[in-house]
Amino acid sequence: MSAVTAVIRGLGGALPERVVSNHDLSTRMDTSDEWIRRRTGISERRHSNDTESTSVLATTAAKRALASAGVASAGLLIVATSTPDKICPATAPKVAANLGLYGIAAYDIAAVCSGFIYALATASWAISSGSVDSALVIGADTFTRLLNPRDRTTSVIFGDGAGAAYLSAGTSGEPGAVLASTLHSDGTAETLIQVPRSAGAFFEMQGKEVFTQAVSAMSDSVETVLARVGWTADEVDSLIAHQANLRILSTVASVTGIPGSKAEIHLDRVGNTSAASIPLAMTNAGTKGHRIPGDKVVLTAFGGGTTWGAIAMTWPSISVVDPH
Ligand code: COA
Repeated sequence: MSAVTAVIRGLGGALPERVVSNHDLSTRMDTSDEWIRRRTGISERRHSNDTESTSVLATTAAKRALASAGVASAGLLIVATSTPDKICPATAPKVAANLGLYGIAAYDIAAVCSGFIYALATASWAISSGSVDSALVIGADTFTRLLNPRDRTTSVIFGDGAGAAYLSAGTSGEPGAVLASTLHSDGTAETLIQVPRSAGAFFEMQGKEVFTQAVSAMSDSVETVLARVGWTADEVDSLIAHQANLRILSTVASVTGIPGSKAEIHLDRVGNTSAASIPLAMTNAGTKGHRIPGDKVVLTAFGGGTTWGAIAMTWPSISVVDPH
């Protein structure tokens, strides 16, 4: 009997209505469209309003992932978020209730920009262990609410959104199989990306140091999962890395030997959406027809904690709705 493997069978994304262009930001702070494009690759991002909370965006993305898979429920629901609706309770039970899923296991994972990788890996462990037969994994964040409107280094990068994947038990030969994962953390670097614990505190990031650590951590994890599945860098059809900065994506590709043309780019339209970044980039790849079922795909992320990791998977056989 072959081992049970988690297989992605549906993807969905959700974005707030309001588009904020680089030009819009340049009317509020000392920056320019030219600087932002050249140093980050971002052209626009979305900002949520009061009715577009993390749980609202997460629910829409999850509904679309369920529809993409042609199913109505899941045995486990994980919301990867560091911007929950409330500090207590978690956002996941509310999202499950919004979907009409009562009684299922539902919890949050707070690994900032690595949240989706953490949630996807742990959901795949739950499925392959036989504990559950299906799972909804949602990455959703609304960091723009926590940005200092005068901080040009964070305001130009972040945007809001949600992305979701539906997985169920299958075999490693099926398109969409989650084949290997690696997760890591280093709490000694917790102040690199943080919202300090004081009233009215804003999100803070040491951009340059984050840049350097992100490149080396993501490159190492990509190499780890490639070794585990026995793929060479040349064989990889798509590198779907956390969308924080175009220069980080190209550097990770060049360090790992994956051709730069294989890096999926979605940040130009949404910026850094934290835990939503990878599932939104996957959804975008699905709607644009960038991938064919069975393609060899590597996901990787780095985020606050610090946390990082990577996943090797094959591209699923699915149809996806465009969230833009
Ligand atoms: N507009 C115009 N100028 C800006 C600017 C902006 N939005 N932000 C910074 N600058 C200026 C700086 O003041 C500095 O000017 P100076 O040379 O006169 O001192 C110059 O541009 C270079 O600043 P620097 O901080 O070195 O920029 P950078 O090239 O490192 O880019 C980030 C800044 C934030 C875009 C970049 O460090 C980054 O992407 N870091 C990683 C972020 C990330 O991945 N975060 C998420 C991980 S979860």
